[in-house]
Amino acid sequence: MIERVSSELTINRLATAIQPSATLAVSGRAGELRAAGKSVLNLAAGQPDFRPPAPVAEAVAKLVGSSPIHYAPVPGLPELRDAAASELSEYHGHPFAREQVMVSCGAKHSLANLFLVTLDPGDEVVVISPYWVSYPDMIRLGGGVPKVVSATAEDGWRVKPEALAAVLGPKTRYVIINSPSNPTGAGYSAADLSALYDVIEAEAPQAWLVCDDIYRKLVYDGFEHASAFRALAGRSEQIILIDGVSKSHAMTGYRIGFLAAPKHVIAAASRVQGQMTSGASTPAQHAAIAALSDPRCDGAVAAMRDAFARRRALILSGLAEIPGVRVSSPEGAFYVFADVNAFIGEGSSIADDVALATHLLENKLVATVPGSAFGAPGFIRISYATSDEQITEGLSRIREALADLRPAV
Ligand SMILES: Cc1ncc(COP(=O)(O)O)c(C=O)c1O
Repeated sequence: MIERVSSELTINRLATAIQPSATLAVSGRAGELRAAGKSVLNLAAGQPDFRPPAPVAEAVAKLVGSSPIHYAPVPGLPELRDAAASELSEYHGHPFAREQVMVSCGAKHSLANLFLVTLDPGDEVVVISPYWVSYPDMIRLGGGVPKVVSATAEDGWRVKPEALAAVLGPKTRYVIINSPSNPTGAGYSAADLSALYDVIEAEAPQAWLVCDDIYRKLVYDGFEHASAFRALAGRSEQIILIDGVSKSHAMTGYRIGFLAAPKHVIAAASRVQGQMTSGASTPAQHAAIAALSDPRCDGAVAAMRDAFARRRALILSGLAEIPGVRVSSPEGAFYVFADVNAFIGEGSSIADDVALATHLLENKLVATVPGSAFGAPGFIRISYATSDEQITEGLSRIREALADLRPAV
């Protein structure tokens, strides 16, 4: 008789070090409350509430209705790589060939591929806090070490060159610039990028910029997103681009993102992607071709941006009327990052931003995300990717919740 040996299935060191996404944790709890019949207002969303432009759905319907759906080439359909390369070339004033662009399952996957194929153990990647929740863990998955440097609300959430200089060194491989930023909405001008590059050139000339431009089309009030290639023209081309259609075209669920990098990096990323996912879904790639190539999409993207601009004004004016809440005016994306320090800590029944976000959710059924998730305790991220009515109602519930706490200072 064969004796069966039992042993517990263990989780390895790498996976144990990875945190669950805090933003997903809040939406999970909000979902539970909703399932229990509560009317939760979602001001935690990281995605547009709109439908994608019509040509996107038409492209999927046409393909699915007329042909078998086969694997696409691992680095993406040639038409999509060409469409992305041509859009990026025009925007950045820098030529990109098809071989310098790879399509993946969302910009998140593009970043993960980049770190997986280029980081060696101990390589440092500078992350500016408040940061998008996934950066540090993705860097760790690639074997790298996140080096966090803080930006402050007083500086419009843009990192100061002196602060950046302090975390640069011989091991720095990348500096991630996410403009406009999730969670603050802060955007860097061409002059800001040039000033940051001054210290990179001095302290870590080997480092490359990783520009996560996923929100670049969502900018307001005359702010112009700055292309790093244009801002650093004649000084450096050590720039990697992360781009996509998820936020600009309301296509988060399609899972399409782009990595633009030197050919040998794309070739290596393609080898890894080939063994892991075989690439992005074919219908979604056809949808993205329509998003980038059908001229009807431009108007739809502009209309979404106009709606976000209106909602941003609504939320900023509403928050300005809540005593004790402080908020700076974001240049882009669809978030505001509100300072709630007046309501937490010593003398308050609410210990910190996590407890405050929990209080807002459990007692007033408003979902927000605590700043701690982004490396910035004392703040909450409020998303305005929802209807004007939901924003107005959310603001009034937040006002009531905060009024119940200690009087604001
Ligand atoms: C800053 C930032 N980069 C990348 C992504 C990922 O985008 P995608 O949905 O295309 O994977 C997000 C999504 O929330 C984001 O906020």
